[in-house]
Amino acid sequence: MTQGIAMAAFLFVTDLDHTLVGNDLAMAQLNGQLDAHRRQHGTTIVYSTGRSLTSYRQLKAEKPLLDPDILIVSVGTEIYLANSDSPDLTWAEVLSVNWDRDQVVAIANQFDLTPQPTSEQRPFKVSYFLAAAIAVELLPKLQAILDAKGLEAQVVYSGGKDLDILPCRANKGKALTFVREHLDISPDRTVACGDSGNDLSMFCDRAERGIVVGNAMPELLTWHHANPSSTRYLAKKSCAGGILEGLHYFGFLP
Ligand code: GLC
Ligand code: MG
Repeated sequence: MTQGIAMAAFLFVTDLDHTLVGNDLAMAQLNGQLDAHRRQHGTTIVYSTGRSLTSYRQLKAEKPLLDPDILIVSVGTEIYLANSDSPDLTWAEVLSVNWDRDQVVAIANQFDLTPQPTSEQRPFKVSYFLAAAIAVELLPKLQAILDAKGLEAQVVYSGGKDLDILPCRANKGKALTFVREHLDISPDRTVACGDSGNDLSMFCDRAERGIVVGNAMPELLTWHHANPSSTRYLAKKSCAGGILEGLHYFGFLP
């Protein structure tokens, strides 16, 4: 890659837990380079996390995170543009179509699921804890009932323990498209980074560049190996170290 490409702005989208956050030293190094790139070239930094806004703020109090230009929380279901205090209404309207949260909860309650804390239950996200051994059989059954009832809902399983049920119109990948088009940045100047199941939609059938960090969870890693792509890079290093490795590989950073 030429120095010229590395000197141009790009759209950087990253998951937080076990992707950007997980190795403090590597994160400090990456943050320094991203911050400088944003100041010098206008690169845009977006966080896309499964956490709610409340839970994101807790993490922010614990770790020295850069302020993102755009924040996507609750697995792509809420988008905070340009430091706004309230989620983007256009996106909320898109997700409202054919979403019946009460019915989704009623169906999920037919299964032996442990609800996550109240802070993680959101208008467009219903979340439970679920052990990996049980998930294998339960997830297809749950999805089949949601489909049979005509509910436009999808199940997303992450980290071998978290189950999210979201509107079909929402996930991290769809939120990424919304943000990229809003900013009018081309897919080849966009890179997304992740480690677990809820990041898969940022990598599946996508024109953007993808970085899977070296410590990725089996649910993502298995899929990655089964679906190779020249625009997706599996890093050797973990967390922020893996992100830096991938940004160099694609030529986003010099
Ligand atoms: C975060 C959220 C949780 C969600 C998980 C996976 O941990 O707090 O609600 O289930 O990400 O998306
Ligand atoms: Mg993660």
